[in-house]
Amino acid sequence: MIKIDNNYIQLDTVDTSSLMRVNEYGDIEQLYYGDKIDFGDRAAITPNRSVLLVNTVYPIGDESYGIDAINLSFSSGGIGDFRKPACVCMELNGNNIEFVYSGYRLGCTPSWLSPHTPNGWSDSIVIDYSSIDGSVSIELWYLVYEGSNVIARATRVTNNGSEITVNKLSSLQLDIEANERQLVSFNGAWGREQSRKITDLNVGIVSHGADNGLSSAECNPFFMIKDRETTQHAGNAYGFNLVYSGSHVYSVETSVYNGMRILSGIASSTLNYHLKAGECMTSPFAVMTHSSRGLNGVSGNMHDFIYNHIIPREAITPIMLNTWEAMYFDISEEKIMAVATKAKELAFDGVVIDDGWFLSRNDDTSSLGDWVEDKIKFPNGIFNLASRVKDMGLLFGIWIEPEMVSENSNLYRQHPDWALKSKVGRDIVGRNQYILDITRSEVADYVYDSIVSVVSSYGADYLKWDFNRRFSNVVGERDSYSYDYAVALDGILSRLIAAYPKLYLEVCASGGGRFDLGMLSYSHIVWTSDNTNALSRIDIQEGTSYGYPVATMLSHLSASPNHQTQRIMTRQTAADVAKIGAYGTQLNILQIDDDYSEFIRRANSDYRSTQQWLARAKCYRVVDGQTSNQTVWQVMASNGECGRVMIYHKKFDPVSGGRAIKLVGLEPNALYNINGHKVNITAHGTTLMSCGMVLPQNYQGHTMTDKTLKLVDNTTLSLNITRIGGNE
Ligand code: GLA
Repeated sequence: MIKIDNNYIQLDTVDTSSLMRVNEYGDIEQLYYGDKIDFGDRAAITPNRSVLLVNTVYPIGDESYGIDAINLSFSSGGIGDFRKPACVCMELNGNNIEFVYSGYRLGCTPSWLSPHTPNGWSDSIVIDYSSIDGSVSIELWYLVYEGSNVIARATRVTNNGSEITVNKLSSLQLDIEANERQLVSFNGAWGREQSRKITDLNVGIVSHGADNGLSSAECNPFFMIKDRETTQHAGNAYGFNLVYSGSHVYSVETSVYNGMRILSGIASSTLNYHLKAGECMTSPFAVMTHSSRGLNGVSGNMHDFIYNHIIPREAITPIMLNTWEAMYFDISEEKIMAVATKAKELAFDGVVIDDGWFLSRNDDTSSLGDWVEDKIKFPNGIFNLASRVKDMGLLFGIWIEPEMVSENSNLYRQHPDWALKSKVGRDIVGRNQYILDITRSEVADYVYDSIVSVVSSYGADYLKWDFNRRFSNVVGERDSYSYDYAVALDGILSRLIAAYPKLYLEVCASGGGRFDLGMLSYSHIVWTSDNTNALSRIDIQEGTSYGYPVATMLSHLSASPNHQTQRIMTRQTAADVAKIGAYGTQLNILQIDDDYSEFIRRANSDYRSTQQWLARAKCYRVVDGQTSNQTVWQVMASNGECGRVMIYHKKFDPVSGGRAIKLVGLEPNALYNINGHKVNITAHGTTLMSCGMVLPQNYQGHTMTDKTLKLVDNTTLSLNITRIGGNE
């Protein structure tokens, strides 16, 4: 709900309030953002005028207004606010354009509505600014998602005068008190995505981002700001994300006046975006939330927002068998049929043919761009194969990397200029391939038509869309190009989901390189990492869970020793970790014995019993795996009727001390049964949350007294939670 009175604007969600005020200078001051407050108290929220104005500057005649210390909702620099501005627009002669507040409009709908505008907002307000001569306008769009406790903001620049450049365009600016808070960022690389880092914020700027066209392996656009004492379960924290997939940046600037400025938006170190008369540039929406219920509170808000306003439809991810780790490029009609036949027996929902199915693609040096079946591997054609697979009652899935071209391909030979390559200097490849310049409409059309031809001519139910290299040799300014590229990619994806609304779309970019809200606007499943080892995955999936619900994280059971880490895991551990996610396998099921086959059949049927509610589950980090030998995750159905708790021990600890696991998010007076692996406890919610449950000693796979048990690396315990009684 948006409340307005006498220059005060308050954006309320169920649990939060953001209070702004248009002050006497036409600056919008951010007076407060946090737990919900009564709008009637607005006059009691005193603007910060406590700075002793010796070092800073102020408007003539008003020494109480030290601009550098005021919390603002928008800053374009040049008026004595020395912190980094949210937006920089320039005349071609290099003059900075100054903007002044000109009014607000309620209840607007963005004219550029696309899947990238999170749907279903409850209220909206646009705050207007204009340049002094009126030729350039800025709109700050706020959309309120009341039930999810999320506020989205985008910034739009419209030029009606002579040509200008946009040199910086943040989606979001939030100025709050600094108060020695901490930044929680999610950095990583291939095979170790979403690694949580905590940085103390003292004076200065901490800035993270990705400048390579891929949103998330090195730095996910989701981040948090927390009070130092905030834990998983209690304390104040803010969460931020960007509904975008491409180069991006966020910064947190802590001023000497106890101010903290948070900016988030498209990458701008080389942004030099030209706007002619009549043109506009729109930032993606950034989203923010606050919770005083700790890091789990922030995650819960973000998850709710993703379920209800980002992912295109409520969809249950089918249990798929993917051929990549099982066979790599060594696939054929015969092998896929054998796999499909066994997959049916083992109760999979479908099979995805990964890389290697198209024209002469026998390794990663060739053929990208030639999306035509390889007749040597598939003599009867893929349509025929797909029909036979579907006749068995299985879904048919196929891999594509449509934005790429190999030098050794027919496409490259016909259109060498479509590849992003240097015209004069050093050519840079990644995985032997080039990116296609989809900002050219004929290239975008080719890419779209290729995808459509694969989906329709093979009757694919499921498409794995991959992207396996970073940008280089781009046309013009790097960040401007990256923005144009993201817009072009949006165009292709929007057309695709409009044409195939039922298609399951899996997003992949060398593992989790595109785990972002931009891609989740089109698809609800992302390949979380190429690293499928459970020990690594426990960190990767836990890191991902801060910003994204477990149902979006594809997590597959795979071979042991693991192909990426060579680590040996028990199948039970691997399955327990993978099943807290969108489950499937990459295992070669043709090479496993009957016992393992039976294990997989049972694992599939067990997952199927959770699949429906897991798609919208509430997810909690019960014990923080980064600071403890134990990782404990709890997932609960949104109606609270059932759930699962997964306990993982990294190192075997012979004298573990019997730490009680205290569950969370239960109904205090309801009765629950916790069941599985020698555990059978019935107790009320309060008891399970306050006293917790002590685990059997031998769940680590070993007991000091029972010498008949062997020490194995079976370190998980997965227990079902069932609500068996109401509030008694
Ligand atoms: C990337 C993906 C893998 C697989 C291969 C195929 O590495 O992350 O899952 O699809 O490409 O080449």
